[in-house]
Amino acid sequence: MEVYGKTPQDARIARIAEERNIDRDTLRWLLATEDEDALFCLRKTARETADRAYGKRVFLRGLIEFTNYCRNDCYYCGIRRSSPCERYRLKEEQILSCCGAGYELGFRTFVLQGGEDAYFTDERLCGLVSAVKERWPDCALTLSVGERSRESYQALFDAGADRYLLRHETADAAHYGLLHPAEQSLAERKACLLHLKEIGYQVGCGFMVGSPGQTVDTLYADLQFIRQFNPHMVGIGPFIPQKDTPFGGEPAGTAEATIRLLSVIRLLLPKVLLPATTALGTIHPKGRQRGIRAGANVVMPNLSPMAVREKYRLYDNKAYTDAEAAECRDMLREEMREIGYEAVCARGDYRKEPETEEMI
Ligand code: 5AD
Repeated sequence: MEVYGKTPQDARIARIAEERNIDRDTLRWLLATEDEDALFCLRKTARETADRAYGKRVFLRGLIEFTNYCRNDCYYCGIRRSSPCERYRLKEEQILSCCGAGYELGFRTFVLQGGEDAYFTDERLCGLVSAVKERWPDCALTLSVGERSRESYQALFDAGADRYLLRHETADAAHYGLLHPAEQSLAERKACLLHLKEIGYQVGCGFMVGSPGQTVDTLYADLQFIRQFNPHMVGIGPFIPQKDTPFGGEPAGTAEATIRLLSVIRLLLPKVLLPATTALGTIHPKGRQRGIRAGANVVMPNLSPMAVREKYRLYDNKAYTDAEAAECRDMLREEMREIGYEAVCARGDYRKEPETEEMI
């Protein structure tokens, strides 16, 4: 291996990029090291990879959290079935008016996210999806509403949904069992992800960083799963305890580990759409900027009505709960501009080929 002019550490990072793979020992090293030069090299290599794929642009997605009812009881999540949180469900007109306001602000991707709420039958959800796509045919619609049947995913796709986010949470079955009650399984989650991809959605998987029971080995399994599944999007953010959940007393994940993993994921999947998440912005004041500088290229400002934001509390101290949509967009634009990136509202679809000048 040619290492002339490079430190052995830099060569090790270059190899991740070249092979688009990482071995367990390299992952262990990257998560533990305090070698600032190596970490700088990791971030730089990842950022350059993202720049080659998408340029100096960060895609904005308007996020609408439309229901916090959930039939699941995930031990980490603040809107789990047994949580005492106050429940809400937006009416179709409210959701459409959020989209309308978002459209006026320039957003061309809407992400409709919610708990697994039985009220949203296929009929209701398909109605909502087609209403959004009819009014704003130039926008991409992303759904993030958990596990549903293959037929349901197909019906929603036929109604016009373009993308789907469903984090796998952990690719290690025993770890999955530690984070969820017995009625949920990794096998089911993986089956859903496969169905979504087969149907033709742009699909996102992902996991929390620093969730209870996570180890280098479970993270290694996550990275190998991501490599093999080859999703269009990957959502990762630090685990943040929510006081009313069984994990309310567990330590939070760190911004540092999240940022290192963002870079590694960028090197494994150069073209992936990779958000610097709200959770990352919550545990570190410069979290989103640091995420972008380490290879992320998406941010998802909140377009939910102010009155319900406090209630969609997956974890405590969630960032940006007090910024109006427009304010939120402007703050993010400014944050991105400060680090030399342009926040763009364009649909920002996954690109199979690197962009040419004309495509920008
Ligand atoms: N901390 C961080 N992320 C969380 N999520 C749920 N609860 C928490 C928490 N306490 C993440 C999960 C889920 C996504 C919508 O939010 O990964 O898939």
